[in-house]
Amino acid sequence: MQIDTETILMTHSDLRTLMRNRSADLHWALDTGIGSLTDHRAYQAYVTGSHCFRSALEPAMAEAEALTGWQPLFLAKELTQDMRQLGLTASAPPTAPKLGDCASMLGALYVLEGSSLGAVLLARRAAALGFDPESGAKHLARQTSDPRRWSRFQAFLQQPGIDADAACKAARAVFSLALTAFRVPHPALANPG
Ligand code: HEM
Repeated sequence: MQIDTETILMTHSDLRTLMRNRSADLHWALDTGIGSLTDHRAYQAYVTGSHCFRSALEPAMAEAEALTGWQPLFLAKELTQDMRQLGLTASAPPTAPKLGDCASMLGALYVLEGSSLGAVLLARRAAALGFDPESGAKHLARQTSDPRRWSRFQAFLQQPGIDADAACKAARAVFSLALTAFRVPHPALANPG
């Protein structure tokens, strides 16, 4: 009997694991493209890319709480303040994907909530470069202020009846938006799920 790997995943994995597996290539590209923030210029490029990404995505997620019951952590306001503090000029936001249903919105929320994990590392690197909440790292302080948020979100994702394919597709679309905003070359969109 032939066993479909995807079916095994759908049966034995939770939605978070599925989204992580199906978007790992894009996260890798983003992480590699952003790099280690070893100097001021790299941090400024990171803030500019984050501002571009968030100002494209957050308006498209205005209905996130109404559709899913989860209140997203929006950071565009803090990023605008950081941009001003650092004397940076905003780049034009790319077009966000459509997120009109609960599953798609959960996929987008997954990318935003997960980005707070990497932000813990990035906040440490920014601090080592001398950026603190009063000098261009306000958004990182807010993003990393609640260490228990990620486990609450994982518990929240454990709900029945979510269209996993739609959620994974949206997670990939949001990662692709981030790659565009950070101007990181897109890897081939293999395994679009
Ligand atoms: C240089 C930049 C980045 C680094 C170094 C980084 C690093 C990390 C690390 C270490 C984790 C895992 C943390 C853990 O399991 O405790 C993680 C998770 C994650 N990151 Fe990033 N990240 C970066 C940028 C981003 C960006 C810009 C986004 C989204 C736009 C993002 C989305 C995610 C997601 C969704 C997860 C959760 C994956 C999972 O389900 O375990 N990351 N990141």
